[in-house]
Amino acid sequence: MDSAQIRQRFLDFFASRGHTTIPSASLILDDPTLLFVNAGMVPFKPYFLGQQSPSFPRATSVQKCVRTTDIEEVGKTTRHASFFQMAGNFSFGDYFKEQAIPLAWELLTAPVDQGGYGFSPDRIWATVYHDDDEAARIWHEVVGLPKERIQRRGMADNFWSMGVPGPCGPCSEIYYDRGPAYGREGGPVADEDRFLEVWNLVFMQFERGEGPAKEGYEILGDLPARNIDTGMGLERMAALLQGVDNIYEIDTSQLVVDRASALSGQAYGADPDDDVLLRVVADHTRTAAMLVGDGVLPGNEGRGYVLRRMMRRVVRSMRLL
Ligand code: SER
Repeated sequence: MDSAQIRQRFLDFFASRGHTTIPSASLILDDPTLLFVNAGMVPFKPYFLGQQSPSFPRATSVQKCVRTTDIEEVGKTTRHASFFQMAGNFSFGDYFKEQAIPLAWELLTAPVDQGGYGFSPDRIWATVYHDDDEAARIWHEVVGLPKERIQRRGMADNFWSMGVPGPCGPCSEIYYDRGPAYGREGGPVADEDRFLEVWNLVFMQFERGEGPAKEGYEILGDLPARNIDTGMGLERMAALLQGVDNIYEIDTSQLVVDRASALSGQAYGADPDDDVLLRVVADHTRTAAMLVGDGVLPGNEGRGYVLRRMMRRVVRSMRLL
């Protein structure tokens, strides 16, 4: 299934279940807390906070995202990217956990000829926030996931916020077991390369204040309503559905790897260090193109500096190759 089909399948599934399809916003939004849109929920933040009322109770989108915090990991792991697309379904005070979890399960496990992604149910694991008995119960009793494939984790892993003051809540992450060839037994808590996170379901119900990005910040109180914000990584799904080992080898990125390989004369797969460089080029050129497309120009500060850094890393990688 190519990336375009994976994207369309997601939107069609949720549109047919009452969600309004919203096009991706620009990577540059007028939010002083963010350099770039870094999650599918960012354009909807005013709805979660109750600052604006949406004209639709449910939405679905595939949002362009840029995250540069893990830039040093790009190319070295199977799954880190500075640009990615996040497919999401959103409820603004409409449905909550009891529908969000079964909806995600249905799309992942329904056969391909019935609009799903055709994952084998026995490959799927879920994590929940350590005290979220309700999500664990829904996974087990409603969906039928065996208890041993539901793991509990703390705030750093299973409580989501934008890393800055704003909406937040406990989350449930869905993982796909790629099999023993990819790592240890023991589920996502033991090995996140073998057990690849594909989808995060956030139960947005609190507002957070200042503090560290991931844990130990202050919870200011409840949001006006209980909401759903989910994010499925399109590139990770493509890697699984296309049977390739990492997100740099999916249909859309392999083209860039091949071009960089042809230009440099270094074959992909011949040398592990060269492969890292080819994957950095594949990732960063895409990010740079998307930033330029949304109006960023290379510069010495802010967004322009991020773009410049991306381009310099591409040039450096190509020179080394
Ligand atoms: N906001 C959550 C995330 O980015 C789910 O969409 O993972």
